[in-house]
Amino acid sequence: MSSTEIEALNLPEGEIKTLIDNIKKNYGFDFSGYAIGSFSRRIARFMEVNKITSIAQLTPLIKDKVAFTSFLNAVTVNTTELFRDPSMWVFLKDKILPRLFEKNEKVKIWHAACSSGEEVVSMVILLKELNLLHKAEILGTDINTEILEQAKAATYLSWRLPHYQKNLEVVFPGKKAENYFSKVENKLVFKMDEYKNVRFKNFDLVLDTSFSQFNLVLCRNVLIYFDQEQQENIILKLNGALEPKGYLVLGAQESIDWHKSSDEFMSISNDNKIYRKFKGQ
Ligand SMILES: C[S@@+](CC[C@H](N)C(=O)[O-])C[C@H]1O[C@@H](n2cnc3c(N)ncnc32)[C@H](O)[C@@H]1O
Repeated sequence: MSSTEIEALNLPEGEIKTLIDNIKKNYGFDFSGYAIGSFSRRIARFMEVNKITSIAQLTPLIKDKVAFTSFLNAVTVNTTELFRDPSMWVFLKDKILPRLFEKNEKVKIWHAACSSGEEVVSMVILLKELNLLHKAEILGTDINTEILEQAKAATYLSWRLPHYQKNLEVVFPGKKAENYFSKVENKLVFKMDEYKNVRFKNFDLVLDTSFSQFNLVLCRNVLIYFDQEQQENIILKLNGALEPKGYLVLGAQESIDWHKSSDEFMSISNDNKIYRKFKGQ
């Protein structure tokens, strides 16, 4: 099936909704709040790769757990980078972290939807360079258990190095990305010892009960995949996870403006999507 045929496939919305109900029944994942257009396109792509021509054919196949895992990988977008949106990391480094660590003995940081962990690795590098890592408690979570295993291993393909370098250069001019990784065959393995202190946990932003008492929550490039109602629910959870005066960081194309909770936050950097919780001080 070519891409043109995928467009032509035009999966019927009713069938997608039935599929979503089946997934919820069988696996407990709730995709009903995902933006239907992009979700359907990802399902169509999965079907193309696996030569599946209809939802009726797909439904029994993903009853198999292994097949479902690869389906989950395909429908959740896991794209990420080291120091993604470097200007945000510069802002954190210069304006947020020094103050946050000065005011708190321990700083609790949650990377919600951390994918394969480059965002967590970036934070560990940043805090180590600022000599603040020993005061941090870091949690990385994602819905996708397979991608979480990669986050734990912090092992990436070597061809990513030039891109890592480009972003790192903005945050720490003159530093070499290769110094933070060991090269093992065609892989890069993050080698900072303290990374083993990071906790990783499977966590579904839609269904799981949230955490509390975090000083900084990064939830970047995941809200875009949800409809407005589900975004509201997730923002409520993130709000509940934050200490008063804690910081929330969203992705470059995300915002809490227009959401019910927006008056609970003040914008610290519009360009970098950094917000501060100011209710309950
Ligand atoms: C595009 S990646 C973003 C990774 C990283 N935060 C970044 O900005 O580079 C989106 C991640 O959200 C995760 N995700 C999707 N739905 C989720 C849910 N309901 N709960 C938790 N994580 C979810 C996906 O598995 C994926 O790893």
